[in-house]
Amino acid sequence: MPLQTDGIVVSNGRIKSLYFILGIYCPPIANQIKPGQFVMLKVSDDRSPLLRRPFSVYKSYPVSHPEKRKKGYLFILYKKVGKGTRKMTTLKKGQKVNLIGPLGNGFTLPPLPSSDNSILIGGGVGIVSLCSLGKALESRKLFVFIGGKTQDDILCVEDFKKFNSNIFIATEDGSLGVKGTVVNLFLSQRKKFKKNEKYYIYACGPSAMLKALAGTVKFQNFMCQASLETRMGCGFGACWGCVVKTNHPKTPYQRVCKDGPVFRLEDIVWE
Ligand SMILES: Cc1cc2nc3c(=O)[nH]c(=O)nc-3n(C[C@H](O)[C@H](O)[C@H](O)COP(=O)(O)OP(=O)(O)OC[C@H]3O[C@@H](n4cnc5c(N)ncnc54)[C@H](O)[C@@H]3O)c2cc1C
Ligand code: FES
Repeated sequence: MPLQTDGIVVSNGRIKSLYFILGIYCPPIANQIKPGQFVMLKVSDDRSPLLRRPFSVYKSYPVSHPEKRKKGYLFILYKKVGKGTRKMTTLKKGQKVNLIGPLGNGFTLPPLPSSDNSILIGGGVGIVSLCSLGKALESRKLFVFIGGKTQDDILCVEDFKKFNSNIFIATEDGSLGVKGTVVNLFLSQRKKFKKNEKYYIYACGPSAMLKALAGTVKFQNFMCQASLETRMGCGFGACWGCVVKTNHPKTPYQRVCKDGPVFRLEDIVWE
């Protein structure tokens, strides 16, 4: 069940260029949140911006976590893009922030026991929601594709190195890894994926990336879940400001915040 609760800022700092990590002590949400779910954060006490902003949780540590220093903490990795995220950069240690969460459905993990392979494909900050999933899947074989416009937009590589993963990187300007989009990089590696094995793809990124991926993932042995980054108003299903068209015959318009943000990629109708 989502809660509205206060948290205390424990850290907030730039990691590189426009990217920051905000640490919040918030046991009620840290205890419950699952990979692919998100929180709605009130980024400041001011009237502006009025609306909360949605963020995936980069890392979270329930109070049962063995490391005392981490118990009840959650971390948001965010990009400064506008008014709200600019205000977030000014949050100071000890300050109170209000959150609603955990929200959304989250990713469905592959059935256990399973030797099936997982493929994680993230574009820009989309990789953040796949990071906690990577941790949940760390005993499996992981193929991780990370893309961004430039090398500054390539995130979480060190995190994925700690898991059992093969990492592939693409940048649109060629400043790191292969030059091109992350979807093209995934396609170029298709030979690695055997026709007689099952693969679970988990993707998150801008809609252009997910649409391109939807156009390529046509073979039977790929099951693809995609997390959408649609702009949101309320974040909990009340305003219908985040709808996406799907091919469900009875409910073609679904709310990304409530029915998603994770959907079967094949269910999305790209307009
Ligand atoms: C489920 C979910 C999880 C998310 N997780 C993260 C995360 O982990 N880290 C992170 O940095 N961001 C994440 N985002 C995106 C984040 O919510 C937006 O970047 C943020 O709301 C922008 O607020 P702002 O006030 O700074 O920007 P605004 O001033 O509102 O807008 C500035 C610019 O950013 C664009 N923009 C705003 N929101 C979005 C969006 N949702 N998608 C694409 N473009 C947008 C606007 O069109 C505008 O050009 C997530 C979004 C969703 C829906
Ligand atoms: S943001 Fe209000 S219904 Fe989804």
